[in-house]
Amino acid sequence: MNLIKAVRLLIKPNFMKNDLKQADSLFSRKIISWYEIGGRSDLPWRKNITAYRVWISEIMLQQTQVKTVIPFYKKFIKRYPSLKSLSEATEEDVLALWTGLGFYRRAKNIFKTKEILKNDFKNRFPKSFKDIVSLPGIGNSTAGAIMSIAYRIPQPILDANVKRTLSRFESIQNDSSSSADKILWQFSSKHTPQNKIFEYTQGIMDLGATVCTPSSPSCDICPLSKLCKSAFRVSKEKITRKKINPTRKINFVLAINKKSLLLFKKQEETFWESLWTPYELETGDKLPWNDSYKNKEEINLIHKLSHLNLDINITILYFDKKFHFKSNKEHKWIEITDIDKYGLPKPIKSIITNL
Ligand code: ADE
Repeated sequence: MNLIKAVRLLIKPNFMKNDLKQADSLFSRKIISWYEIGGRSDLPWRKNITAYRVWISEIMLQQTQVKTVIPFYKKFIKRYPSLKSLSEATEEDVLALWTGLGFYRRAKNIFKTKEILKNDFKNRFPKSFKDIVSLPGIGNSTAGAIMSIAYRIPQPILDANVKRTLSRFESIQNDSSSSADKILWQFSSKHTPQNKIFEYTQGIMDLGATVCTPSSPSCDICPLSKLCKSAFRVSKEKITRKKINPTRKINFVLAINKKSLLLFKKQEETFWESLWTPYELETGDKLPWNDSYKNKEEINLIHKLSHLNLDINITILYFDKKFHFKSNKEHKWIEITDIDKYGLPKPIKSIITNL
């Protein structure tokens, strides 16, 4: 060791000596260089980084693509720019901003988390992995992403894009079994670098989303292709075919009086949980009110969810006056002009706004 190197090592703080001993993997270094040149640094959650903003973006990006998330993220951050500003929001306020983004459980988890942060963390986003992973809707991968992006503390991640990239690179099964996931977590940890963790984490996410794509990976432009055990060999047969979703028929009855709508808060957990919809008429079911309508209209539409196609029929009944009745389903008359204050499924909201 020459003298200059020895002196540097002596004056370097202990935690930094590690990077001299432990070389980061070539895999991670290739990804970092690729991100620094071609990564999507213009994404809104990659600017003005705070743990709060990273948390909101990572929750929105669970199960939803970047291009869909961008407008929802911008709207959410405009309305609630900080944890403090979110602290007094109601669950309904959060659900209302989530209309159209889907997987509404995520909005409920954001509400639950901000309540925990208000009550137990003085409205500050926690810094330790243990505290972060204990929050509703945050698993190991999301906690890893928050630590790595917001605090630049290296933690492995394993979302769908990373799973695919790593499993191809190492040529290992990616069948979502717990044994496959365990091996993939080990590889993810092995490749998580000590340096430039922010660039690496964003880079591997971008590479998976834009280059190592599910159906036709662009191995010719991939920075990993010389090292990847599956490069140019991802066969067409291995690519899972698009699954055909089952169809469910739903019959809604929408009662309208002038500019008011009778809406019900959905309890069922399968989809649209906690959103406001018209009355859902089950087969053999009777309407819970007696009043008679003066006009009637029918609308049919198909709406695709990720796991289910909905064949929706809405019977619109126009009434002269608002009526009241007993029902064990939470319900209320809502003014059309107030509709943006409530969480409504997108197809229901667009029908109402076009009435
Ligand atoms: N998917 C999950 N987190 C992401 C991020 N921060 N950037 C792009 N895609 C992502």
